[in-house]
Amino acid sequence: MSDGLEDVVAAETVLSEVDGQAGRLIIRGRSLDDLAGRAAYEDVLHLLWDGFFADLPKDLGPALGAARAAVFAEVTALDTGLLDRTPIEAMRALTARLADGDELEVALRLVAAPAVFTAAVVRGQAGEAPVRPDPTLSHAADILRMIKGKAPSKGEADALDTYLVTVSDHGLNASTFAARVIASTRAGLASAVLGGISALKGPLHGGAPGPIIDMLDGIGAPENARAWLEDALARGDRLMGFGHRVYRVRDPRADALKKAVRRMGEGSNVLPGRLEFAEAVEQAALAILREKKPNRTLDTNVEFYTALLLEALAFPPTAFTCVFAMGRVGGWVAHAREQLAGGRLIRPQSLYVGPMPKVAA
Ligand code: ACO
Repeated sequence: MSDGLEDVVAAETVLSEVDGQAGRLIIRGRSLDDLAGRAAYEDVLHLLWDGFFADLPKDLGPALGAARAAVFAEVTALDTGLLDRTPIEAMRALTARLADGDELEVALRLVAAPAVFTAAVVRGQAGEAPVRPDPTLSHAADILRMIKGKAPSKGEADALDTYLVTVSDHGLNASTFAARVIASTRAGLASAVLGGISALKGPLHGGAPGPIIDMLDGIGAPENARAWLEDALARGDRLMGFGHRVYRVRDPRADALKKAVRRMGEGSNVLPGRLEFAEAVEQAALAILREKKPNRTLDTNVEFYTALLLEALAFPPTAFTCVFAMGRVGGWVAHAREQLAGGRLIRPQSLYVGPMPKVAA
C-alpha cells in the first residue's frame, strides 16, 4: 500500500508533466517559462483542450466571453444565505446550478463559472451589486473588471493572466485526481468540476494562500520572522506555502509568480517593500524548515507568491482559492475529457484492517 498514493501512477496523460526532481513543469509540450507571461489563458485553454472537443475554435476568447454572459443569469440565485458562506462555498453552490453535459458549451460555462460567481460573491459580501460580464474583454481583464467595477490596467490584467496560465494544469494533483475519478464514472463534466472545486478548497491544497497573508501580517517585520515561524512549528502548525508531494526542489511556479509580482512593480499595487519582506520571510522559513525537518526537503511552493500576487490585485484573501479554481478549471475539464476518452472506471482496492466476524464454535 502507498500512503497517500505517493509515487503511484494512476493515469496516462498528454496534458502536463511535473518533474519533481528537476523542478520543471511542462504543459502539453510547452515549458511553463514559455507560457507564463507570454500566452493568454484562452490560448492555454486551447492548448489543453485541443483534440478533446470536436470543432474547437482556434480563438476561444469570444466563446468564453459568451459563456461568462450566459452563466451570469445564475447570479440571481445569490441570496443572503449564500453570502454568509465562504466565497468558495458560495461559488461552488452557484456552479452546482449549471447543467451537466459533455460538450464544449458546457465546458466553457464551467470555466466561466468560478470567474463570474466569485466576482459576484466578493462584491455581494462587500454590499455591492454584481457587475455584468463584458464578453469582448479577455478572461483575465473581465474578471478584474467584474470584481472592481472598473477596467483594470494592462499590467493588472497581464498579472492575472500569468497567474491563470501558471496554475492551469499540474499533473495528477488532488483536485485533478478527484475530477478524473468522477469523470471515470461517466457522471459528467459539471460533476467532475464540482469535485475538483471541493478538493481544491482544503488548506493542504488550494486553501493555502489565504493563510499566507495571515502569516505575513502576523510576522509584521523581517526581524520577527524567525521567532514567529519557530512558534508556529512548535505548535505543530505547517508553514503554508512550503512543501510539496512531488517537488523535492523549488516549485517552478513560485518563480513565475514572483516575476509577475516584480513586473507589476512597487507603487502600482504592490506595497513598497512588500516583496522584499516576503522574500525575507521565505528565507527564514526555508532555513528553519531545513533545521527542524531534516528528513524532508521542503521548499517554496506555488502558493507563497500566489498570495502576494493576488493581494496586489486586491482580491480578498478569503477568495484566493476561488481565483485558483478560475485557472485550474481548464485543467480539470481537459483531464475529465481525457479520462472519458480512454480511461476505465477508477476503482482501487483498500486493505481491510478491521475486525473479522466471530466464527461460531
Ligand atoms: N511545514 C512544516 N512541516 C511540513 C510542511 C510544512 N509546510 N510540509 C510538510 N511538512 C512535514 C510534515 O510535518 C512531515 O514531517 P514529519 O515527518 O516530521 O511528520 C513531513 O514534512 C512530510 O509531510 P507529509 O504531510 O507526509 O508530506 P506530503 O507530501 O503529504 O505534504 C503538503 C505535501 C500537503 C503540500 C505539505 O507540504 C503541506 O502541508 N504544506 C503546507 C500547505 C501548503 O502549502 N499547501 C499547498 C501545496 S501546493 C498546492 O496544492 C497547489
